[in-house]
Amino acid sequence: MSSRIVLLHFLFLFLLLHLIDSLDTLGPNDTLKDGDVLISQGSTYSLGFFSPSNSSSRYLGIWYYGQPEQTVVWVANRENSVNDTSGVFAFDHSGNLVIHANNGSVPIWSTNVSSMTSNNSTIAQLLDSGNLVLYHDLSEVVIWQSFDYPTDTFLPSMKLGRDWRTGVNWFLTSWKSEDDPAPGSCSYRFEATGFPQLFLYKDRAPYWRPGPIIEKQQGILAKMANDFIYNVTVVNNATEVSLMYAVINASVLSRYVVHESGLVKHFMWHTEEQRWTEFNYHPKELCDYYSKCGPNGICGANNADQFDCTCLPGFEPQSPGDWYLRDGTGGCKRRQEASMCQSGEGFVKVKRLKLPDTSTAHVDMSLSLKECEQECLRDCNCTAYSSANETMGEYGCLKWYGDLEDTREFSDLGQDLYVRVDAIDLARYRKRSTLVKKARVATISVSALVLLLLGTLVYCFMSKRKRDGRGRNHLASVTTSSTHFNELPGLKDLNRDGRPKTDLSFFDFGTVAAATSNFSSVNELGQGGFGSVYKGAMNNGTEIAVKRLSKYSGQGIEEFKNEVRLIAKLQHRNLVKILGCCIKEDEKLLIYEYLPNKSLDSFLFDETKRSLLDWGKRFEIAYGVARGLMYLHQDSTLRIIHRDLKASNILLDDTLNPKISDFGLARICGGDQIEGKTKRVIGTYGYMAPEYAMQGRFSIKSDVYSYGVLLLEIITGQRNSGHYPMNTFCNLIGHVWELWKEGQCMDIVDKSMDKAYSEKMVSRCIQIGLLCMQRYASDRPTMSTVVFMLGNTDVVLPSPKQPAFIEESDYNRDFQSASNRTCSVNGVTVTVVEAR
Ligand SMILES: *[C@@H]1O[C@H](CO)[C@@H](O)[C@H](O)[C@H]1NC(C)=O
Ligand SMILES: *[C@@H]1O[C@H](CO)[C@@H](O)[C@H](O)[C@H]1NC(C)=O
Ligand SMILES: *[C@@H]1O[C@H](CO)[C@@H](O)[C@H](O)[C@H]1NC(C)=O
Ligand SMILES: *[C@@H]1O[C@H](CO)[C@@H](O)[C@H](O)[C@H]1NC(C)=O
Ligand SMILES: *[C@@H]1O[C@H](CO)[C@@H](O)[C@H](O)[C@H]1NC(C)=O
Ligand SMILES: *[C@@H]1O[C@H](CO)[C@@H](O)[C@H](O)[C@H]1NC(C)=O
Ligand SMILES: *[C@@H]1O[C@H](CO)[C@@H](O)[C@H](O)[C@H]1NC(C)=O
Ligand SMILES: *[C@@H]1O[C@H](CO)[C@@H](O)[C@H](O)[C@H]1NC(C)=O
Ligand SMILES: *[C@@H]1O[C@H](CO)[C@@H](O)[C@H](O)[C@H]1NC(C)=O
Ligand SMILES: *[C@@H]1O[C@H](CO)[C@@H](O)[C@H](O)[C@H]1NC(C)=O
Ligand SMILES: *[C@@H]1O[C@H](CO)[C@@H](O)[C@H](O)[C@H]1NC(C)=O
Ligand SMILES: *[C@@H]1O[C@H](CO)[C@@H](O)[C@H](O)[C@H]1NC(C)=O
Repeated sequence: MSSRIVLLHFLFLFLLLHLIDSLDTLGPNDTLKDGDVLISQGSTYSLGFFSPSNSSSRYLGIWYYGQPEQTVVWVANRENSVNDTSGVFAFDHSGNLVIHANNGSVPIWSTNVSSMTSNNSTIAQLLDSGNLVLYHDLSEVVIWQSFDYPTDTFLPSMKLGRDWRTGVNWFLTSWKSEDDPAPGSCSYRFEATGFPQLFLYKDRAPYWRPGPIIEKQQGILAKMANDFIYNVTVVNNATEVSLMYAVINASVLSRYVVHESGLVKHFMWHTEEQRWTEFNYHPKELCDYYSKCGPNGICGANNADQFDCTCLPGFEPQSPGDWYLRDGTGGCKRRQEASMCQSGEGFVKVKRLKLPDTSTAHVDMSLSLKECEQECLRDCNCTAYSSANETMGEYGCLKWYGDLEDTREFSDLGQDLYVRVDAIDLARYRKRSTLVKKARVATISVSALVLLLLGTLVYCFMSKRKRDGRGRNHLASVTTSSTHFNELPGLKDLNRDGRPKTDLSFFDFGTVAAATSNFSSVNELGQGGFGSVYKGAMNNGTEIAVKRLSKYSGQGIEEFKNEVRLIAKLQHRNLVKILGCCIKEDEKLLIYEYLPNKSLDSFLFDETKRSLLDWGKRFEIAYGVARGLMYLHQDSTLRIIHRDLKASNILLDDTLNPKISDFGLARICGGDQIEGKTKRVIGTYGYMAPEYAMQGRFSIKSDVYSYGVLLLEIITGQRNSGHYPMNTFCNLIGHVWELWKEGQCMDIVDKSMDKAYSEKMVSRCIQIGLLCMQRYASDRPTMSTVVFMLGNTDVVLPSPKQPAFIEESDYNRDFQSASNRTCSVNGVTVTVVEAR
């Protein structure tokens, strides 16, 4: 920590009020030497000379006061460092703040305000917002402020955008590297052209775009922030275009940082733990990257299993060959014969989108959505429109011309976009939407029929009249609305119709008991954390797997049924399918599809069978598990944390396609939360993340940890918990880490693969595994990032720090006692299920 040297000057007596506690103020004759600091009034920020982590160069900067690790938020002399401790920070004769080094006469940095507006009675003050302001002693007019020259950090009340009067452009640029604050290759800007929007650039090319800031919707910035945490203010008038945010609870510290790696990260200060937690970061998913699906394409990351790119209505793939090979970057083009000008075209509504790039869009806040539609229809070059302000109904008109770039689909956020299509497509979409409506009417009719049976004739008569009335209204609305549809479901529904309905079956207990020979031990496939699994055969020959849940579950029957019904809706090719359930008194059974190839551990850890798994297969398995887990974490409607991911919970079908089993059991077996703390730790030694094993805190990141362990096991063919004595540091993770540091990690790759693999790929996978096992959950990637890293071999990976569970004697102590299956750590009961 830098020493605090109090700078007190009482010379300007009339400034006494300002200077009485002038730790935060630099007066005209004051000099700040290397080692001195200014401290803002509320002790939030300090200013002084510092060196970045691995460098001895000195820079003048602002950082948070009193935090264990120095976190710099602003740097003055980014490009010209001082080489030694000779740096001084003071006013020059013209009233500018300057940095001198080595008694040199030419400053290495200057606020450089022209002397017309500044004189030698300026003072500088470090504010509690982190802003260093320069003003005239009496007038209080700010003549220079550090917030006008942001570096890589965006703080509350700072602005991004343009000041049209002064020409100042507020934007962030990353540091070149951890130890060099000079401007790097990434910048984050609020662009004023068209309709203002944020842009992250990497090497000058657009890299990520949060989407236009529409009122109420406020783009992703506000969404990811959560309205309770902060608010966003956008100004767009003749004097400026700017974006600013404020934290609602002003005592919460928050910062956005643009990293050289191409990430915008958002950190919040965790007061209790005295450290920063990474609250969010972008780009995160494949679809976040700019124009992933090219012009006029939509990226839809909802189902990792399917091709992510689709075309907007009225468009078709530019290059069907690439499209087939899952390369969507070529985008989509209009159908050749489409006639787009005054020949019966109209608009198709696509729901829940990140609106296309608005750089060339036109905005008119005075129009209603209906007027917007007419304007767009009249102008043959207008390709789409949407509302620009969703605060009070839909108001404001946003029109696009030419190609629609960087559109993606969300499952819950997003806005409606109306895309221009020709008369033929219009008719096609209208027909589909009518079909969908008919299907809805049909279900309504079926339920009406039930009512008919139950109800009286009078009720029946009334309900029929009602329905007739509705029918007429519907007809009327079709004839008046000639150009667009109100209720066209998301495109995904249209493209992927014909999905099987997933209604849960309730099995009869007697039938299931018979199918499993009364749960005989001969039929037992294994035991897990929640009960035993039996193989069974139904009368028609269908083979099933039956999980007989242990009887402790605290849930009521209805609650249980509801949970199972929800879980059964999760369908993915990398998840085991639930066929149904069965309840009788306190017996609760879950019936799954039966997979003849058993589980991954029976291959991986078996001397003879492991050779069936060549590198290609292993990679496919690792990739499949990652996608299944990603689906559970973020793409399914439920957001499931598995909590017991391990090799024996990965089943293989007859083509060795992996399927995750036992997901959702924590939920089914009583009271789960999205992220939280539990007194009952369910998991398996060797796979548990430290924060989960020791404090009972689970999150999607504790699953990521388990995935990392699994990945290393797949590569090495060794159990993390198996071959090493438990009370030494040398478990598999420790061993891999040692080899990784020495660059020898190929030594541990499973010999049964006979070196038939690309070392680069294997090494990459080991690196990903280590990243998944980082000590702090915030340092671990999310599963979508893992999937992305596995799938994109040219993306540079961050270097892992030492993973958890090594040289942590407290952990080892805990787990010595854990070997007798149950122990108490910090009052949390750890029920350890030995890996089988
Ligand atoms: C700064 O120093 C000059 C010359 O020594 C003196 O005239 C002036 O009053 C001083 N100003 C302050 C604010 O101390
Ligand atoms: C920082 O310094 C440490 C040791 O002083 C070294 O091991 C590490 O590689 C350095 N990191 C960078 C990014 O230069
Ligand atoms: C810092 O050192 C480098 C080379 O060691 C030199 O080129 C540069 O001028 C020095 N800068 C200052 C401000 O002394
Ligand atoms: C203040 O500025 C005036 C000219 O603007 C100059 O004559 C004078 O020397 C300066 N005073 C100090 C202390 O720098
Ligand atoms: C800077 O110059 C002053 C006077 O010119 C001298 O007293 C001082 O020792 C010098 N400092 C360094 C670090 O050279
Ligand atoms: C100060 O500003 C002038 C013009 O505004 C510019 O030419 C000069 O390079 C700047 N000096 C520094 C040190 O930034
Ligand atoms: C410094 O300049 C400001 C504005 O130009 C003026 O109001 C103020 O009186 C000046 N102060 C001195 C001491 O000349
Ligand atoms: C633009 O908005 C800013 C911030 O609200 C305000 O200070 C400024 O006066 C406005 N300018 C015009 C021309 O309305
Ligand atoms: C945003 O929150 C800050 C802090 O609570 C408050 O001062 C400001 O008025 C709010 N702004 C808007 C536009 O709600
Ligand atoms: C604001 O945050 C601080 C620190 O996190 C907390 O102690 C305080 O209760 C919060 N205030 C409100 C009103 O939420
Ligand atoms: C439409 O675009 C074409 C070429 O880009 C241009 O020549 C034409 O004037 C535009 N029409 C309108 C109505 O803007
Ligand atoms: C959006 O509409 C609301 C309500 O009509 C209005 O208060 C707000 O100023 C509008 N925003 C813009 C940017 O026009």
